[in-house]
Amino acid sequence: MATNYTLPLVLHLILTLSLISVVSSVSEKDLLLAFKSSIEDPNSSLLNWSPNSTQYCNWTGITCSSSSPPSVTSLNLQNLNLSGEISPSICQLPNLHNLNLASNHFNQPIPLLLSKCGSLVTLNLSSNILWGTLPDQITHLSSLKELDFSNNRIQGQFPLSLGLLNGLQVLNLGGNSFSGTVHPPIFRNLSDLVVLDLSRNPSLTSKLPTEIGELGKLRVLLLQSSDFYGAIPESFQGLHELQVLDLSQNNLSGGVPKGLGLGMTKLVSVDLSQNMLSGSFPSDICYGRALVELSLHENSFSGSVPESISKCNTLQRFQVQDNMFSGNFPPGLWSMSDIVLIRAENNRFSGEIPDLVGVPSRLEQVQIDNNNFTGRIPHSLGRMHAMYRFSASLNGLNGNLPENFCDSPVMSIINLSHNSFSGPIPEFRNCIKLVSLSLADNRFTGNIPSSLAQLAVLTYIDLSSNDLSGEIPPELQNLKLALFNVSYNQLSGSVPLYIITGLPASYLQGNPGLCGPGLPNACSVLPKRRKSKNSKLLIAVVALTMTAVLVILTVIIFAIRRISQRKWSSSAWKPVLFGSLGISEDEILMALDDKNIIGRGPFGTVHVIELPDGDFVAVKKLMNLGVVSSKRVKNEIKTLAKARHKNLTKLLGFCYSDSVVLLIHEYVKKGSLGDALFRSELPLEWRFRLQIALGVAQGLAYLHTDYVPHLLHRNIKSNNILLDEDFRPKLTSYGLDRVTGEASYQACLASELGSFCYIAPEHSCSKKATEQMDVYSFGVVLLELITGRPAEQPDSRESVDVVKWVRRKINMTNGPLQVLDPKVSNSSQKEMFGALDLALHCTSIMPEKRPGMAEVVRTLHCLQDVIEPPMISSVE
Ligand SMILES: *[C@@H]1O[C@H](CO)[C@@H](O)[C@H](O)[C@H]1NC(C)=O
Ligand SMILES: *[C@@H]1O[C@H](CO)[C@@H](O)[C@H](O)[C@H]1NC(C)=O
Ligand SMILES: *[C@@H]1O[C@H](CO)[C@@H](O)[C@H](O)[C@H]1NC(C)=O
Ligand SMILES: *[C@@H]1O[C@H](CO)[C@@H](O)[C@H](O)[C@H]1NC(C)=O
Ligand SMILES: *[C@@H]1O[C@H](CO)[C@@H](O)[C@H](O)[C@H]1NC(C)=O
Ligand SMILES: *[C@@H]1O[C@H](CO)[C@@H](O)[C@H](O)[C@H]1NC(C)=O
Ligand SMILES: *[C@@H]1O[C@H](CO)[C@@H](O)[C@H](O)[C@H]1NC(C)=O
Ligand SMILES: *[C@@H]1O[C@H](CO)[C@@H](O)[C@H](O)[C@H]1NC(C)=O
Ligand SMILES: *[C@@H]1O[C@H](CO)[C@@H](O)[C@H](O)[C@H]1NC(C)=O
Ligand SMILES: *[C@@H]1O[C@H](CO)[C@@H](O)[C@H](O)[C@H]1NC(C)=O
Repeated sequence: MATNYTLPLVLHLILTLSLISVVSSVSEKDLLLAFKSSIEDPNSSLLNWSPNSTQYCNWTGITCSSSSPPSVTSLNLQNLNLSGEISPSICQLPNLHNLNLASNHFNQPIPLLLSKCGSLVTLNLSSNILWGTLPDQITHLSSLKELDFSNNRIQGQFPLSLGLLNGLQVLNLGGNSFSGTVHPPIFRNLSDLVVLDLSRNPSLTSKLPTEIGELGKLRVLLLQSSDFYGAIPESFQGLHELQVLDLSQNNLSGGVPKGLGLGMTKLVSVDLSQNMLSGSFPSDICYGRALVELSLHENSFSGSVPESISKCNTLQRFQVQDNMFSGNFPPGLWSMSDIVLIRAENNRFSGEIPDLVGVPSRLEQVQIDNNNFTGRIPHSLGRMHAMYRFSASLNGLNGNLPENFCDSPVMSIINLSHNSFSGPIPEFRNCIKLVSLSLADNRFTGNIPSSLAQLAVLTYIDLSSNDLSGEIPPELQNLKLALFNVSYNQLSGSVPLYIITGLPASYLQGNPGLCGPGLPNACSVLPKRRKSKNSKLLIAVVALTMTAVLVILTVIIFAIRRISQRKWSSSAWKPVLFGSLGISEDEILMALDDKNIIGRGPFGTVHVIELPDGDFVAVKKLMNLGVVSSKRVKNEIKTLAKARHKNLTKLLGFCYSDSVVLLIHEYVKKGSLGDALFRSELPLEWRFRLQIALGVAQGLAYLHTDYVPHLLHRNIKSNNILLDEDFRPKLTSYGLDRVTGEASYQACLASELGSFCYIAPEHSCSKKATEQMDVYSFGVVLLELITGRPAEQPDSRESVDVVKWVRRKINMTNGPLQVLDPKVSNSSQKEMFGALDLALHCTSIMPEKRPGMAEVVRTLHCLQDVIEPPMISSVE
């Protein structure tokens, strides 16, 4: 007790000795510690806020003035996962100008006592869980310029007194639960406002205050997704500085005021979409000469869009979809130099797409479905190489598709269904990113181009209801199709097995000439006639004579399906089990469904199945087969199964039919190294990571040199390395090329996104797979272990190949240090550098410079000896 009192006493003494500066700095520190003491900090972000350290200006989030003594001017603790109580003790910091606690988990009403922070200039409490009402007292913060309470759960009306904060420049109350009316007088004093955001308050049922139109400095006005109703005030014309106007998703009605946009020369974006606005096109908006985005979609506008729209030559995004616009679509819009997006679907526009010869275009996306467009697709459209979506379904477009229609290398969605196109479908070769192609319900003739099979990511193809003839190209089995609707054409010949087993039969209906197992027409004679030019006639004859047979067959097939409830009948399956699993192949087949899929790859899906004894097995379903004979498949899998090593997943058995092989593996619970990397769950101790690397290397060395016949893995990547509970790695998916056949294997590999950087650079120019390619892939995995970074970021477009990233870093001073995963303790640096050196050798551009796997194992062993006493490692 006594000591507790002596300190203040001494301080008081010092104070009286007029060393005021010292006192004020001591107490600033105490105030901060008091603030910290009421906060919960699960990540220990405020670890350095320690009573021992006197340099509180260096603490996380603190900024001090450069005066002497320094004084706290700013407290910025955003996004640190803090919770607990916001203590008003900080309001005693005399010079606190900026307080930012945004993006934390503070769950409390807005602290009333914050109103004592009289010197605050900016206050940011956005993205917390603040609730209750906005207190009147907030207006005591008379110096406030920026107030951000957005994305909380604040309720009630805006207090009228908000209008007293007359220095306010930013007012953001968006994303809360405010309700009632916005009282117009609030804005009379806020003449300095630059940003006003009242968006996303669904219970804010209010008219738009006329006064907002008098805020002459306003640049950003966001009022979307609330419940504003009534007309847009005429006064909004006065917002000359406005750059962004978003009134979308409200209940506004009436017209758009004449003159809106007239003086708004800086306007960048107008969004009036999803209201009930009506009337004709607000042509004055175009006078905002810097307009970049115009969204009027989902309203009730009618009439036409004037050609004068093309005067807004900075316009990039034009969105008027879901209205009742009619008349000629302004042709000038297509040739505007900056236009990137045109969305006009679901209107009644008419007119043609003009030929834009010699116009450089940035156009990326066009959606004009469900209008009354006519005429042809001009050749010039194919030269727009930024185009990634073109959809014009449900119009009256006609003529042939130009040869170059799909030349844009980024094109991914095409929908021209329900038009009157005719002629052949051109060869699509250059749009290698095409995902979805719909040409349904036109009058296309000729064959299905086999070049479609070259478009590796093509997944949805709808060619139904045309006049296509010929066979379904067998090459299409290279694609991973989710939709392939060719119903109601004149196709003939045998259907590739993969399409029959993988896709619903309804996709093929309405083509009496098609045949294959499971189809009404069973193909017994037809394949021989494939070369016959006159096959149509023959098919007609055959079809006639077989009609009766077909009916019977259909009935039988229906019956079979109902019994087996499966696309295949299990009698076609041949099981080979090594040892007893206590489960039959029928039970395995029945257990395969979408719910137990744990992985999807280019070769097929992986399911996990529980055995009667409670154990689990992983079942890998390989598709796209039919190239290798069943007998050979069986022998090859037996070869794979005989490879037994502690770092390979054990193959327990397999079943196969004509088109599918099921590989039954032991199930490794912890998931793959790839998962661990992606979730940042790699072990933090280098010892464990090295153990993983060594295990993988040993497994590979076994395949390459010890096992006879020598095997290549060919698909080493972190997703194919499974980890058991003790972080012991097991390789999976090895040698699948032997099962699928080389061509299918290559096609599958090529279609696999996100694993290009595991593939050795020489792969593209050499046909033959080599051990060195495996070594390269291993080097990439080793780099992942060293850096803690996935080799490729799966969802970022400009993903950085880890090999390139590391090489670039290493060339900088201090680079090698930056490469090491900072989460691993510094004490392992030496060993990690050793591993880095090895990884760089493995990933040499020149294959002959790469070490063999046996040498890799030796090197890793040495690195391990450095870490562990030899005694322990020799137990391994
Ligand atoms: C602060 O001092 C205490 C003892 O006075 C000590 O236990 C603690 O480790 C010190 N903390 C820091 C961060 O130095
Ligand atoms: C604290 O900041 C001062 C400058 O304000 C600096 O000289 C000093 O090195 C810093 N101390 C620590 C421990 O970071
Ligand atoms: C807090 O820690 C968790 C795991 O401990 C981590 O995922 C998260 O990124 C950390 N958050 C911050 C803000 O540092
Ligand atoms: C935030 O902290 C909680 C504990 O309060 C923790 O469970 C959670 O993982 C943390 N989340 C992040 C994103 O840091
Ligand atoms: C408040 O903080 C959030 C999160 O960091 C930030 O996005 C926002 O821009 C800040 N508000 C203001 C007005 O600066
Ligand atoms: C505007 O500011 C003045 C002076 O600060 C104040 O008297 C008046 O009440 C304010 N008006 C509104 C509507 O808040
Ligand atoms: C829109 O406003 C009208 C009155 O103008 C009202 O009758 C209607 O309920 C409102 N609709 C919604 C969704 O708020
Ligand atoms: C489509 O345009 C044609 C003339 O080009 C016209 O005769 C027809 O009425 C229009 N259809 C609709 C639904 O507007
Ligand atoms: C293509 O357009 C039609 C008609 O608008 C639509 O029904 C269909 O879903 C679209 N297809 C794709 C793949 O978007
Ligand atoms: C395939 O196309 C036909 C004709 O356009 C259509 O009736 C059928 O619903 C489509 N099937 C599927 C599964 O989309």
